[in-house]
Parts: sequence; C-alpha cells; structure tokens
Amino acid sequence: MDVADHASIDALAQKYVGTAMDVLINNAGVSVPRSANGEHRLKQTFGTLDYTAWDNIFQVNVKGLLKVSEAFVENVSASSDKTIVALSSTMGSIQEGALPVFLYGSSKAAGNWIISMLAKELKERGIITVSLCPGHVKTAMGGPIAPIEVDDSVAGMRKTIAGLTLDDTGSFKRFNGETVAW
Ligand SMILES: NC(=O)c1ccc[n+]([C@@H]2O[C@H](COP(=O)([O-])OP(=O)(O)OC[C@H]3O[C@@H](n4cnc5c(N)ncnc54)[C@H](OP(=O)(O)O)[C@@H]3O)[C@@H](O)[C@H]2O)c1
Repeated sequence: MDVADHASIDALAQKYVGTAMDVLINNAGVSVPRSANGEHRLKQTFGTLDYTAWDNIFQVNVKGLLKVSEAFVENVSASSDKTIVALSSTMGSIQEGALPVFLYGSSKAAGNWIISMLAKELKERGIITVSLCPGHVKTAMGGPIAPIEVDDSVAGMRKTIAGLTLDDTGSFKRFNGETVAW
C-alpha cells in the first residue's frame, strides 16, 4: 500500500478483515535527499527550508503512521502478541536530537507523540505500542556513511520486539533495546 494514500490503506485493511496480526510495523518513512557526498540533508536546515517537502514528509511519517495504526488495530487486537511498532529516530528526540534537520526531525517527534498517546489509548486492550529507532543504518535513507549494517539493525530490532511486554508500552527504544530519551 501507499501510506500517503488513505484509500489504499483502507483497501488493504478491508482485504485483511478478521486476520490476526501479531506485530504491526510502521516502517515506511521519507526524508529529503542528501548532498552529493552523503553528509548533509538538503532543504531542511534553517534558512533553506522546503515547506512543500515538509508536507510530503508529514503525509507519510505522521498521517501515514496514525492512519495505518487506526486501520489495522482490530487485526492487532485479535492477535497473541498485540504489538504496534513505529520506526522512529533519535532525530525526533527532544533530548537526544543533535542534528538541525527540521523537517524530518519534527515528523519523528510528532510520530513519537502519536505513539505515546496510542499507548495510553490502547493499553487497556492489552496492546503494546512503542517507538523504535533502528540506529543510523546503511540504507537509501541512512546513506553509505552510516555505521550500522541492515542485518545488524534488523536482528537487534527483532530481538527487542520479541522481548516487549505490556510494561514497555509507550516507550522509545533503540534497535539494541536501550531506552531513548523522549
Ligand atoms: N536508515 C536510517 O539510518 C534510519 C535512522 C532512523 C530511522 N529510520 C527510519 O527507518 C524507517 C525505514 O527507513 P530506511 O532507512 O529503510 O529508508 P529507505 O531506505 O529510504 O526506505 C524507505 C522505505 O519506506 C517505504 N516508503 C516510503 N514512502 C512510502 C509510502 N508512501 N508508502 C509505503 N511505503 C513507503 C519505501 O518503500 P519503496 O521502496 O517501495 O519506496 C521503503 O521501503 C523509516 O521510517 C526511517 O525514517 C531510518
């Protein structure tokens, strides 16, 4: 599905009505292009902000996260593990965010707020809701300078997700299970 297109989310949800889903992972995410040497994100530092790009980032990273969670919550609720994960980033952490990437960072901060509210909303149904930072990973988004390999990040996230309990709901974790400050 295209998480920027709510009709496409609803169509997929319709197809899976009645199917239990143990772990719903909101992985889809966008930012803006990197500079040629891969070090800097263009158009999202103060003084060069591209507000049209921000709309697209919010459409995917924020509205997409909430809409997908809303569309599939009954599937998660009907499962054994009852877990909703949002791929977040320390760039959305108010305490740990170090880079002034205004567009992407603000979208991940908004996603974190959504996750913390969903945790409160869904806890009584036994649903675990967490934000999870994959680390700085060598993907198209992370770029070639990223220090963490995809396999290592994914293995860490799988282990962290498998160890989640309802006591973890509303938390923000790194791929290796450490707690990230909001
Ligand atoms: N890489 C990092 O260092 C890093 C660090 C912190 C957080 N994250 C987060 O981790 C998640 C995965 O990122 P990544 O590094 O794998 O990025 P990526 O290499 O750029 O891949 C982005 C993924 O999101 C999907 N996507 C984008 N827009 C979509 C849409 N409208 N509907 C459905 N799918 C869409 C893409 O699907 P297509 O391939 O079909 O376009 C692709 O699978 C993102 O939420 C990102 O913000 C990444």
